[in-house]
Amino acid sequence: MEILLKREEIAAAVARMGQQITRDFAGESVVLIGVLKGACLFLSDLARQIELNATFDFIAVRSYGTKQHTAGEVQLIKDVTTPLRGQNVILVEDILDTGLTLTYLIKHLSGHHPKRLKIAALLDKPSRRVAQVQADYVGFQIPDKFVVGYGLDHAERFRNLPDICVLEEGGEQ
Ligand code: IMP
Ligand code: MG
Repeated sequence: MEILLKREEIAAAVARMGQQITRDFAGESVVLIGVLKGACLFLSDLARQIELNATFDFIAVRSYGTKQHTAGEVQLIKDVTTPLRGQNVILVEDILDTGLTLTYLIKHLSGHHPKRLKIAALLDKPSRRVAQVQADYVGFQIPDKFVVGYGLDHAERFRNLPDICVLEEGGEQ
């Protein structure tokens, strides 16, 4: 598979995002909420680049089936268990595509009344946006290609690839 982003580039972007978050929330604590399962690897690397008092939680939604296009509908599968009222919350997502998932999650988490709610997305495909949503911290803007690796899957495969690769049409065998 063609490599779009090498592990070293990813690590540098994650370090930069961690520094931004450390600066923006200086002297405060943060709750990192990872969107399962894709954001797991990103969250674990990002967390180690944040020099603040930090806790983790996870949330799971279903927005994609095994196909490469969105169903246009988001369903909550697992909610957070941390009380978020008055907390600085950073929602950690692998990729911002149509924006439907994040729009749903922002609305859902806002209902928990956090003090601040920020979005960290490793990847952003702005050309695919349907819902008006922007991330506060972005690793890379990428073209409209289906990518896998570093947590991102196709039908649950390829999450363990250390680099981010472009999945070719019919290349999923
Ligand atoms: P959105 O709701 O369209 O913004 O989609 C966000 C979700 O779609 C992500 O959390 C991914 O699970 C999935 N997704 C979107 N684009 C890709 C891709 O290129 N590769 C793998 N998963 C993707
Ligand atoms: Mg997925």
